[in-house]
Amino acid sequence: MSELASLLGEEDPSPAALLATRPHLSLNPIDGLTMEEVPLAAIIAELGTPTWVYSAGAMRARLARLQNAMTGLAEVHYAVKANDHLAVLRLMAAGGAGADVVSGGELLRARKAGIAADKIVFSGVGKTAGEIRLALAEGIEQINVESAEELETVSALASAMGRTARVALRVNPDVDAHTHAKITTGTAKDKFGIPYTDIPAVYRHAAALPGVEPAGLALHIGSQIMSTGPYRAAFARAADLVRALRAEGLEVQKMDCGGGLGVGYHDTADASPDALAGAMRAAFGNLALELMLEPGRWLVAPAGVLLSEVVLVKAGRFVVLDAAMNDLMRPALYDSWHGIVPLRPAAESAVYDVVGPVCETSDTFARARRLPRLAAGEHVALLEAGAYGAVMSSTYNARPRAAIALVDGARWALLRARQTPEELWAGERIPDFLG
Ligand code: LLP
Repeated sequence: MSELASLLGEEDPSPAALLATRPHLSLNPIDGLTMEEVPLAAIIAELGTPTWVYSAGAMRARLARLQNAMTGLAEVHYAVKANDHLAVLRLMAAGGAGADVVSGGELLRARKAGIAADKIVFSGVGKTAGEIRLALAEGIEQINVESAEELETVSALASAMGRTARVALRVNPDVDAHTHAKITTGTAKDKFGIPYTDIPAVYRHAAALPGVEPAGLALHIGSQIMSTGPYRAAFARAADLVRALRAEGLEVQKMDCGGGLGVGYHDTADASPDALAGAMRAAFGNLALELMLEPGRWLVAPAGVLLSEVVLVKAGRFVVLDAAMNDLMRPALYDSWHGIVPLRPAAESAVYDVVGPVCETSDTFARARRLPRLAAGEHVALLEAGAYGAVMSSTYNARPRAAIALVDGARWALLRARQTPEELWAGERIPDFLG
């Protein structure tokens, strides 16, 4: 985008263009912005703002579409970190998905929501002994081991508990996913996985260790990946490893292909599950492997919005919202672009900086964005807020965590009440010696 065009906000897609790719959202002249069959203004009237709203229909439809692309090819394990609300996990379980978890907390959430232990895989570079014991006690499907050191720990803990841990070794294939630097995970300088050149030795060792049974390999090269090129490069490395391990007589059953499938935040289309399936077939199709996938963002990002009220419009230039970086952190953290759609259409437009009230310049949702003209008291929806939204919120500036609602057809329900001020300091203590 040229600097001038961006200053004029000329290249920003219109609300109509943004909504065209999101069938669960529509703008109608009487009710304003509507999710499935529920006018979002009705939710604001009851819950106020800022409020997250998720579309159950969109989440179900996206899971079905992804599973359809993977039929007969791979098992889908939803990456809980993208949106860990129990209701979202219940929906994923009902749609037949397993879970990919990265902490004891996520493991317990997945179990609480009804995801069977034997459909849970546990990834992460720093699983504690307590978390590994929990995974073993629950009898989960697989632990994705990220280092030679962790392999020893899992072996020792499982042996002590009299269990055998099914493990996959996470390969670091040294492939650049061509995404934002902060969410690339598969290059040699990243902390994730075991260097691919070390895999044969570690796998061989795993096969000889007590308490562990190496089931296969795993990889995850990054997030918000928009083309199959990086996947193909990583899968080719992994397929070579599978052949090399088998040539040594080692058993390799499973290949976890990771997550990372991107969505169109601006005016691009979402990454294609069919194209990903094609890349998986091309690399692993004739290796007789059980494939799995760990997508998060693709399943839930477009299904969610963050509703906010315009507090004031300062000097005709700054639209100050009641939502802030503590709620939706992605723009501050990754300079990410999120669509902004007013709940009521307006004939005129203007170019604004859209900001929150937090005392940091990074509390900026959009710069020089052309939007329908806005005034204090009006409402907007920030789009693609269903993934890495509420889960990454904080209470910075003593701002309570926002409410969450779920729409399903013509019904909607509260998923989480807005935090009260008392809840903000519940659990805090002032030591007696402070008087
Ligand atoms: N599997 C593993 C081991 C992961 O680390 C991740 C994401 C996923 C699966 C799911 O990736 P997805 O399909 O959602 O791309 N907060 C950042 C994204 C961080 C992703 C971390 N790992 C953001 O808001 O863009």
